[in-house]
Amino acid sequence: MTKRGRFITLEGGEGVGKSTNVGFVAGCLKAQGLEVVRTREPGGTERGEAIRALLLDPAPLESLHVDAELLLMFAARAQHLAEKILPALARGAWVVCDRFTDATFAYQGGGRGIPVARIAVLEAFVQQGLAPDLTLLLDMPEAAAKQRLESRLRDRSEQRDRFEQEHANFFQAVRSAYLARAEQAPERFAVIDAQYTLDNVQAQIRQALMARVAEWY
Ligand SMILES: Nc1ncnc2c1ncn2[C@@H]1O[C@H](COP(=O)(O)OP(=O)(O)O)[C@@H](O)[C@H]1O
Ligand SMILES: [Mg+2]
Repeated sequence: MTKRGRFITLEGGEGVGKSTNVGFVAGCLKAQGLEVVRTREPGGTERGEAIRALLLDPAPLESLHVDAELLLMFAARAQHLAEKILPALARGAWVVCDRFTDATFAYQGGGRGIPVARIAVLEAFVQQGLAPDLTLLLDMPEAAAKQRLESRLRDRSEQRDRFEQEHANFFQAVRSAYLARAEQAPERFAVIDAQYTLDNVQAQIRQALMARVAEWY
């Protein structure tokens, strides 16, 4: 029987370096001879990316109800699990995902104020017990992360998405909610101090990752 693959997620607020490091994590695992599937949320499938566009586009959805936002996140996630994540894990591939359900607890919970218990109901419904094996939480002060985000938007001439337009209070609430989740599940989380140089951050990530890989084999 094929050994089930492992599920690794990268989390954190805007600009902390998730998308920059998802490829680094995948590369570390591939170097160990593992099959790796790299993906992201919201999105990860054709239908899920269409839902992502609805969630992130600031123009038509300024008045998107918070519960609608929450349900769209989980709708995209249900598709992602069924079409991509679960089949990959079943065939023994490792899945590296840029954001997952901790982001929903942090943004829709911490940021928007939806009670944790309501989100947990949807988590149980959609995931049926599946949770990441390891979550790398990239954590840094909100103001410094904002500077990184600003420079990325400038470099790539990108528009702010619906979440990137939020205010400092929102991002502070997101950060606190992430840290609270990490405290509640210390065995699943590795908190990475993301304010340092990319080399430093990647050394921390590699160490956290390799400690787990060694444990799992
Ligand atoms: N450790 C780092 N030091 C300096 N800049 C970084 C670091 N990590 C990422 N960046 C830069 O910060 C910006 C935001 O990174 P990104 O990976 O897009 O963040 P996220 O996906 O978490 O929003 C990008 O321009 C990226 O090149
Ligand atoms: Mg990103």
